[in-house]
Amino acid sequence: MHTVTCIAPVNIALIKYWGKRNEELILPINDSISMTLNANEMCAKTTISSWETFKANRMWLNGEEVTFEENARLMRCLDGVRRLAVANGALKVPLNWKVHIASRNNFPTAAGLASSAAGYACLVYTLARLYGIPINEELTAVARQGSGSACRSLYGGFVRWHSGVLDDGSDSVAKQVVSPDHWPNMHILILVVNDARKKTPSTKGMQRAVTTSALIQHRAKVVVPRRTEELTEAIQLRDFNSFAEITMKDSNQFHAIALDTYPPCVYMNDVSHSIVNFVHAYNEAVGSLQAAYTFDAGPNACLYVLEENVPQLLAAIQLAFPNDLVPSVEYLRGIQVPNFGSQN
Ligand code: DP6
Repeated sequence: MHTVTCIAPVNIALIKYWGKRNEELILPINDSISMTLNANEMCAKTTISSWETFKANRMWLNGEEVTFEENARLMRCLDGVRRLAVANGALKVPLNWKVHIASRNNFPTAAGLASSAAGYACLVYTLARLYGIPINEELTAVARQGSGSACRSLYGGFVRWHSGVLDDGSDSVAKQVVSPDHWPNMHILILVVNDARKKTPSTKGMQRAVTTSALIQHRAKVVVPRRTEELTEAIQLRDFNSFAEITMKDSNQFHAIALDTYPPCVYMNDVSHSIVNFVHAYNEAVGSLQAAYTFDAGPNACLYVLEENVPQLLAAIQLAFPNDLVPSVEYLRGIQVPNFGSQN
């Protein structure tokens, strides 16, 4: 029996992926950029065994068995990695042996905390290790077919998913913009407002947005191309001011598209909106942009902040939201993060 265990971290998008041009191959309508967390923080951990006596491909997610062979996304990942293994001539494990997969997240699943990104990235990477193939752009194209945002979690640091133009999706791949040591004092605080499962899953929400939002094509064709270039430059120059402004504007535009969807997708709640107001008031009070919020498809806030500004920001959060704090904490990039009380 061959067994491999790997971990893969969550990534948090700065320029959001929202909308597909091909549902089956998971090809996006715009590029996106994210930062990957450190590997030992919010992550998925996956163990895969392969043996000649296994009768079927099976998978357990957080301890519960899930359907595997009927799940097109899982099968596309397995087939994609096996195809790359054949092309690489790297067949450490016979391809006709079935696999058993056990995966766990160390954070809430499907609460708008990028669980599918870490989960599919980890699945594809662990399969790649099992069959003996390296991480490269082709592998990101396989992870993309599990969940779009997963392709960005195969690399550390800041990562750009290029939407690509080809119909077969072979140029829709993730590339590293800069490695984690380029901007080591960049931190993310995650304020857990609510860790329940989200109401409209991303796949459904973006499908509905593409067919009903009058604004989404403008975003994809006009706004995002300019923003990805500007953000890439801000990251390269370590220009936090521009980085923060672009990040907050893109989060706001993504949620505006969600509201422009019919029926609308409401991901942020009252606590989320008070965090937005708090960050703007805080930045004004300190006289420069020192914190930037971004929200995925859920109410939880991710705040980007430089290490030297963390203590002051955390103190202000605790003053502004004294009643929302509960004793549990999350650790991200070495930072204690208050856990906001549940509210919907
Ligand atoms: C709001 O990657 O979960 O987090 O490709 O349908 O699986 P599918 O969607 P998914 O969508 C993530 C959306 C987002 C923004 C982002 O991560 O870029």
